[in-house]
Amino acid sequence: MNKYQIAVVIGSLRKDSFNRRLANAVVKLGPPEFSFNFVKIDDLPLYNQDDDANQADPVKRLKNEIKSAQGILFVTPEYNRSMPGVLKNAIDHASRPYGQNAWAGKPAGVLGASIGAVGTAMAQQHLRNVLAYLDAPTMGQPEAFIHVRDGLFDDAGNIGADSRQFLQNWMDRYVAWVKQNAA
Ligand SMILES: Cc1cc2nc3c(=O)[nH]c(=O)nc-3n(C[C@H](O)[C@H](O)[C@H](O)COP(=O)(O)O)c2cc1C
Repeated sequence: MNKYQIAVVIGSLRKDSFNRRLANAVVKLGPPEFSFNFVKIDDLPLYNQDDDANQADPVKRLKNEIKSAQGILFVTPEYNRSMPGVLKNAIDHASRPYGQNAWAGKPAGVLGASIGAVGTAMAQQHLRNVLAYLDAPTMGQPEAFIHVRDGLFDDAGNIGADSRQFLQNWMDRYVAWVKQNAA
């Protein structure tokens, strides 16, 4: 079994999501001792505090996957200068009930891709704010605001030549961050 299991949370439900493609390509840059589990968030109900004492099965599944992971990798688009609601919904679910926050202590990394040149910077900053409150130690540098343009991915879906070194360095730093902070 791999020593480090990473839960990957994608902030887009779109079938052809650039962020999902980015996540698929980036995890290939991880070392053999890391495995990446893409968690499902599209079947979570809308968060309702009334359900805290009786969480739905998809919520329990999400919480178990987060709790059993040694690290979290968020890959998210920016919606209206913040994180998409589907991502916030998942984060809220796994943070509750009060005192049973699954994110606490989980080393996190944040990536985002947008068709806009500065896209995802605001979304990532909002996400970092939330993760700070949830006590998830989040890698500060390098930041990665990925601009989606021709050549970002090669024909096989890997990171294209122009961005490969940057994202390999990002992954190397993330791996070190997880090793340093994993419980
Ligand atoms: C509701 C909505 C709001 C958006 N707001 C932003 C934004 O604030 N900043 C940005 O760079 N792109 C914005 N976009 C464009 C997204 O970057 C683009 O749709 C991107 O492809 C979404 O990521 P995905 O391909 O992973 O689904 C927005 C798109 C939608 C649908």
